[in-house]
Amino acid sequence: MSADPTGARRVAVVTGASAGVGAATARALGARGWTVVLVARRAERLAAVAAEVGAAGGTAVVAPLDAADGPAVDAMAARVLDELGAPDAIVNSAGAGVWRWLEDTGHDDLAGMLGAPFLAAWNVTRAFMPALLARRRGVVVHVGSPASLAPWPGATGYTTSRWALRGLHEALRQDLAGTGVRSCHVLFGEVSSEYFDANPDSHQHIPRVGRLIPVITPERAARIVLRTIDRPRAQVFDPPMLAALQVANRISPRLVALVARRTGRRRSAP
Ligand SMILES: NC(=O)c1ccc[n+]([C@@H]2O[C@H](COP(=O)([O-])OP(=O)(O)OC[C@H]3O[C@@H](n4cnc5c(N)ncnc54)[C@H](OP(=O)(O)O)[C@@H]3O)[C@@H](O)[C@H]2O)c1
Repeated sequence: MSADPTGARRVAVVTGASAGVGAATARALGARGWTVVLVARRAERLAAVAAEVGAAGGTAVVAPLDAADGPAVDAMAARVLDELGAPDAIVNSAGAGVWRWLEDTGHDDLAGMLGAPFLAAWNVTRAFMPALLARRRGVVVHVGSPASLAPWPGATGYTTSRWALRGLHEALRQDLAGTGVRSCHVLFGEVSSEYFDANPDSHQHIPRVGRLIPVITPERAARIVLRTIDRPRAQVFDPPMLAALQVANRISPRLVALVARRTGRRRSAP
């Protein structure tokens, strides 16, 4: 499972690897003997995850950087390509975003949530794409949100950034047809990571209808990401009942929008 046809170790680049889904994915890949390039801003957290990847049987390379910084990502990719070669998988899991009304969203808030996941995924995917295309294989997994299908009230910047990520994925699907390189969009419901601690004033704004969807752990999310690397699919939902959202949205987007609005946040009177 962990070896490619040439017997070499498989290599993954994982963003958001200092916490949550990214860290759990790095550990799970480590347990399969992969070499994992860990990308996030907090160096000390990456060092801790690197130790766990090593203990699990893998090899970790830490790359502390802001993935929204294109030149920094290009420099990291050049190093990785030089030392490890083209990655077999890229997991774009870096992400942030507070759930606020547009008028309450500061310039820095917006820059942060467009920076990750969207720009981070763009930068990392772009930096490795020539190498993946040259080798005619590779899987790019984007960790996304149901907000990219059906928005709910009071999370304007968050929703915009997740639509941008989905837009990148859909555009890549067209661009990559027939190349052997796959783009996969994996959508999770709520994950019991540190996400809502890092983005305060968000969790309480989950629409009531969303609370029907079971919360999953980062470890389960990681298993879904690994399954997607093994068997790439354009769109993956977990919990699986989330797929019903997409079906309902196709049949009646107005009804889905109405339910999200009626069970979601209300504006206080001015
Ligand atoms: N948690 C949920 O309920 C949930 C549900 C559906 C989808 N998602 C999506 O899944 C993604 C990951 O969420 P999570 O639950 O794993 O969140 P998390 O536990 O808060 O982890 C987020 C990761 O992103 C990294 N990050 C943020 N901005 C970055 C940047 N500019 N450059 C590099 N790394 C950056 C953080 O590391 P540093 O701070 O060290 O940079 C951290 O490692 C997010 O896009 C989120 O929207 C989450």
